[in-house]
Amino acid sequence: MNIVILAAGQGKRMHSNLPKVLHPLAGKALAAHVIDTARSLSPQRLCLVYGHGGETVRRTLEAPDLAWALQEPQLGTGHAVQQALPHLSPEGVTLILYGDVPLIQAATLQKLLHAARDGLAILTVELDDPTGYGRIVRDGAGRVVRIVEQKDASAGEKTIREVNTGIMALPTARLDEWLARLSNDNAQREYYLTDIVAMAVAAGLPVNTAHPAGPWEVLGVNSKVQLAELERIVQRRTADALLEQGVRLADPARLDVRGTLSCGRDVFIDVNCVFEGLVELGEAVEIGPNCVLKNARIGAGTRLAAFSHVEEAVVGPDGAIGPFARLRPGTELAAGVHIGNFVEIKNSRIAAHSKANHLAYVGDAVVGSRVNIGAGTITCNYDGANKYQTVIEDDVFIGSDTQLVAPVTVGRGATLGAGTTLTGDAPPDTLTISRVRQVSIPGWKRPQKTRK
Ligand code: UD1
Ligand code: CA
Repeated sequence: MNIVILAAGQGKRMHSNLPKVLHPLAGKALAAHVIDTARSLSPQRLCLVYGHGGETVRRTLEAPDLAWALQEPQLGTGHAVQQALPHLSPEGVTLILYGDVPLIQAATLQKLLHAARDGLAILTVELDDPTGYGRIVRDGAGRVVRIVEQKDASAGEKTIREVNTGIMALPTARLDEWLARLSNDNAQREYYLTDIVAMAVAAGLPVNTAHPAGPWEVLGVNSKVQLAELERIVQRRTADALLEQGVRLADPARLDVRGTLSCGRDVFIDVNCVFEGLVELGEAVEIGPNCVLKNARIGAGTRLAAFSHVEEAVVGPDGAIGPFARLRPGTELAAGVHIGNFVEIKNSRIAAHSKANHLAYVGDAVVGSRVNIGAGTITCNYDGANKYQTVIEDDVFIGSDTQLVAPVTVGRGATLGAGTTLTGDAPPDTLTISRVRQVSIPGWKRPQKTRK
């Protein structure tokens, strides 16, 4: 089996410099959705016909199993498939997909391929408003006779509600000959792929139809309005799948998954959360409202409170994160770690049961167990040119408003007094403090405003 994905069209109505098929849907390029679905059918050859935005499309989607056929200029869907011919294996069936029809499901395509086993098969759908689509013309016995495009249709044909989705499967051996016979003698001066349906009928080949699970599967993207509509469909389907698995969602309409979200049992997700890339939530994890998680793993029983932002980070079990916490790339938190409001952690490992509850920055640090990091503590990890590591051993207590000027090590069980600027290592089990002694000046007077 061959699969050809047509993606040479311009997408003028997107009003964008980005080629249409590269616009993201649920965090993935439109054409990438189609490519992934195509791949799941294990075709012998997979060929993308590209044209508009050529090199950008190719560079973005390039993969070892993808063949590329340039269509320049774009003379119609039949002409597009013709460009792919040299890349196809001559036997079996060729399945035609559209790069801008991203929701097509593998199960539907299997049905279509089944319908094509003795001839040609078209994926069709009945629409209340068929305007703009090619219509499926059938004879008195209900057999498909041909497809007529909207612009070439008679008034009578325009009343047909069964439309061509554009997706079809046909015997590869006949393609060569049929495509060569296409003419552009029609309203749009294009070589229509749809004209080969009448050729198949003339050749006595059965023409069958198959249908998607619902019209949503074959919706195309021609504008930002349609892109937004499809985004909602994908998101609703993802939310429904999560609910089916037992995830509790405060509102399935206010969740955005732009990648893959996997959840253990009894997970709860509050409203307006965004999940990007690969996110794993362990059993009984609770995600508060307005959290953003990107490529992150959250351990069982951990609670992420409102407005927390987690990226490329691993959080252990039974943790308490946020509200307003920011875990940046390279953060690894062990079990029972507490990270509170306005705390930023970057490229740091924090061992079990340590806490940084208020207003702190921990960067490039290795923090032991049961450490308490006071409010306003900052690792000064950057001298403007290079970054340095801070090591904080087990059971350390760091007083508020402390600066740790890296590289520096705080020994096990050490205490740092509030306001300390630590520029050298702090010995274990000792109080280290750097603070100007407090003085009170008797009789000191506040300055007065001078009169002119
Ligand atoms: C096509 C079908 C129509 C069907 C409709 C479904 C034909 C002649 N008509 O019409 O029966 O109802 O799709 O949406 O096939 N493309 C190329 N190169 C080209 C022209 C198109 O690669 O020269 C690609 C486009 O990028 C797009 C797809 O083919 O992915 C369909 O093109 P489009 O212009 O949208 O086809 P329609 O005229 O709408
Ligand atoms: Ca179209």
